[in-house]
Amino acid sequence: MQALWKVLLVAPLLLLPFPTVASPARDDQPSTRPSNGHACVGCVVVVSVIEQLAQVHNSTVRASMERLCSYLPEKLFLKSTCYSVVRVFGPDIIKLLSADMNADVVCHTLQFCQQDPGQAFCHLYPLPKETWKSTLEKARQIVKKSPTLKYSRSGSDICSLPFLAKICEKIKSTLKNSVPFRDVDSDKYSVSPTLRGYHWRGRDCNDSNKMAYPGRRPDNWDVHQDSNCNGIWGVDPKDGIPYEKKFCEGSEPRGIILLGDSAGAHFHIPPEWITASQMSLKSFIDLPSALTDELNWPQLSGATGFLNSTSGLKENSIYLHLRNRNRCNHRDYQNLAKNGASSQNLERIIESLSRNPRSDHPAIVIYAMIGNDVCNGKIDPVPKMTTPEQFYSKVMETLKYLNSHLPNGSHVILYGLPDGTFLWDHLHNRYHPLGQLNEDVTYERFYTFLGCLQVSSCHGWMSSNKTLRALTSERAEQLSNILKKIAISKKFTNLDLLYVDFDLQAVMKKWQKRGGQPWQLIEPVDGFHPNEVALLLMADGLWDKMQLQWPQVLGKENPFNPQIEQVFGDQGGH
Ligand SMILES: *[C@@H]1O[C@H](CO)[C@@H](O)[C@H](O)[C@H]1NC(C)=O
Ligand SMILES: *[C@@H]1O[C@H](CO)[C@@H](O)[C@H](O)[C@H]1NC(C)=O
Ligand SMILES: *[C@@H]1O[C@H](CO)[C@@H](O)[C@H](O)[C@H]1NC(C)=O
Ligand SMILES: *[C@@H]1O[C@H](CO)[C@@H](O)[C@H](O)[C@H]1NC(C)=O
Ligand SMILES: *[C@@H]1O[C@H](CO)[C@@H](O)[C@H](O)[C@H]1NC(C)=O
Repeated sequence: MQALWKVLLVAPLLLLPFPTVASPARDDQPSTRPSNGHACVGCVVVVSVIEQLAQVHNSTVRASMERLCSYLPEKLFLKSTCYSVVRVFGPDIIKLLSADMNADVVCHTLQFCQQDPGQAFCHLYPLPKETWKSTLEKARQIVKKSPTLKYSRSGSDICSLPFLAKICEKIKSTLKNSVPFRDVDSDKYSVSPTLRGYHWRGRDCNDSNKMAYPGRRPDNWDVHQDSNCNGIWGVDPKDGIPYEKKFCEGSEPRGIILLGDSAGAHFHIPPEWITASQMSLKSFIDLPSALTDELNWPQLSGATGFLNSTSGLKENSIYLHLRNRNRCNHRDYQNLAKNGASSQNLERIIESLSRNPRSDHPAIVIYAMIGNDVCNGKIDPVPKMTTPEQFYSKVMETLKYLNSHLPNGSHVILYGLPDGTFLWDHLHNRYHPLGQLNEDVTYERFYTFLGCLQVSSCHGWMSSNKTLRALTSERAEQLSNILKKIAISKKFTNLDLLYVDFDLQAVMKKWQKRGGQPWQLIEPVDGFHPNEVALLLMADGLWDKMQLQWPQVLGKENPFNPQIEQVFGDQGGH
């Protein structure tokens, strides 16, 4: 779950320098990956899109590249970078594609892809009819004297390319203020959406006052200002009683906090970004904001989403359910999920938790490390998986930290790991978005390509090797069982523990009952993450379970909700 997002950052951006700016929490040692698989995938995706745009519009390769650049927004220098890249690599790409070479050949010829000694030859498309060697030889003759080879060969650090250095500098300085997790001591709440702003945690309602933030107990019943940002403040002129006291006292307000990975943050790459037949000026509108959210869409996630679903589902996130139950909870959400997060690397992430055990309301914390403990991109992923001993010890550390940083009366819900054999079973013989136009790239091919380059999000499950898939599920189950045991046997002073399965089968059954297909629950571009529908159905399942079995976690339904709405409308929005 850690690597693919990096790859796809590179791809739609035509090899922009983001990977170096926003590296995941756990990174692979550069020395263990001889050549740069991310650059290879990025190149193959971009060249495929160029080729397919030409096919769809019956245009020249040159026109197709210009078309692609014209679709990109100006923001974050996306358009200008695109034109720079076309200026440098365009002539070679035109020559090669015009000679009927495919994206694999183009990218190997330009040396974005390299076959390391003793390693397999990695390709996305079926091999050419002639032998691979002679095709590549022919291609090399075509660009023999090309001056650009020295650029692509430079490998991982795209910013070292002279023609991109300036743009890189500009982007880096733009993103400098974006420190994905702000300092512990500094104000963690923000008035802007991205860069870990209010897409991630409740919007700051008073930027000049550090003591005003979502989730705190109100200061003097918020007579003069909205100290907890829930949109309820002031005094009822009819009787002189502060509204916060009248509507919220004794209502047991609480917030929702997610400790998660890319699935919890809702990692999502819209298929329009790589599907030539659907691409238009509108396709990339969200690209800049998605990039500054690390390609995540927490505002639409199952745990903390606050926008209406884009898929038309009526289900609510856990946060919206909590808010509907008690309007005093308005804006009290924190999504601390991060791409690549696992039980083993949570220390830094958890430091960005904002909850004062003395002055804030209790919280419901969802712990959902659902993949990275068993998922990695190694050829043999098993040795790198988290062992049960390592897992137990880190989970206990996390819980101790939470116990000392959460107000008494908080709840922690531990999610188990899913059985990822779902992915192969429901996707392997379907076409990937890149393969739909010519019916040539199935997910099996896509998975094999990523696995070969060792950049797979989860080689253990995204593999044609049935034994390996079963082994991965077995480890996932072992780790889930540890969480289950901890939930039953461990006691903490300020929080209680609950365990739930990450039950993809249950979500699938729910979806099928509505006439849906299992494959429609997975992100089409990465072929790995649960998509918005899956996340919302999962959240809904959790909500139902809590209502039935653990109502104490949710608190009471606030009888004043209609009055709050009447007086404060949408409470300042989100
Ligand atoms: C594609 O373009 C070529 C050259 O402009 C033209 O000869 C051909 O008829 C076009 N094909 C289609 C299907 O439009
Ligand atoms: C923001 O906080 C400052 C400092 O406490 C206060 O003076 C001001 O009235 C607050 N603004 C609003 C809109 O509540
Ligand atoms: C979400 O949908 C509801 C009902 O369909 C609508 O009333 C509300 O305004 C929508 N909210 C947003 C933020 O679009
Ligand atoms: C925490 O709250 C529980 C009730 O929810 C109470 O029984 C317990 O004494 C409290 N602990 C502390 C340390 O205040
Ligand atoms: C499949 O995976 C298992 C477990 O990692 C491994 O022992 C075996 O060699 C693999 N089989 C093939 C054909 O690669």
